[in-house]
Amino acid sequence: MARIVVGIGGGIAAYKVATVVSRLVQEGHSVSTVLTHGATQFIGAATFTALCGRPAVTDAYDQRFPLGPHIELAEGTDLLLVAPATARLLASCAHGLADDLISTLYLACEGHVLMAPAMSSPMWDKPAVQRNLAQLQQDGVKFVGPEQGWLSCRKQGWGRMSEPEQILTAVSQLLN
Ligand SMILES: Cc1cc2nc3c(=O)[nH]c(=O)nc-3n(C[C@H](O)[C@H](O)[C@H](O)COP(=O)(O)O)c2cc1C
Repeated sequence: MARIVVGIGGGIAAYKVATVVSRLVQEGHSVSTVLTHGATQFIGAATFTALCGRPAVTDAYDQRFPLGPHIELAEGTDLLLVAPATARLLASCAHGLADDLISTLYLACEGHVLMAPAMSSPMWDKPAVQRNLAQLQQDGVKFVGPEQGWLSCRKQGWGRMSEPEQILTAVSQLLN
């Protein structure tokens, strides 16, 4: 069974990630979760703490991790899953900014990285976002989605986060 860190970004699709985390735990994986400040606007850290049976981390300077959560969580991690991967997280990781816990973890992590982007169609189509996507692909990051369909901005288009089932399939393909 794998050691997985799930980084949750600040988008509506964050609620779907609770299902992903629950299923990974049920499959027997050791799962830790990290939420951006934005993510906590959409879903509570308590949900992920309970699902994983270990505290969700929201603070890059969390004193429970004397070496820093980015170092201690990255240690021995087989997979970093970022979902929803916001436009900001894609940019921060593509540029190595390390300006929040997830993008710092991204730099510290030596395992696989899988991202499930989610955003509105105009955001997804923006050249800046596509440049960051291309850079991350070149850097070895794997992607699942986004899909076409209903978006929370009440439009149809590209940018909908993949469903939990598709994300779970992508995770198991990467781990095997
Ligand atoms: C209602 C609402 C929905 C949002 N959905 C998304 C989204 O799906 N994708 C995205 O990239 N940003 C979305 N945003 C904007 C992000 O929350 C914002 O860019 C934030 O800075 C992202 O921070 P984070 O990457 O640290 O979570 C949304 C904002 C609001 C208010």
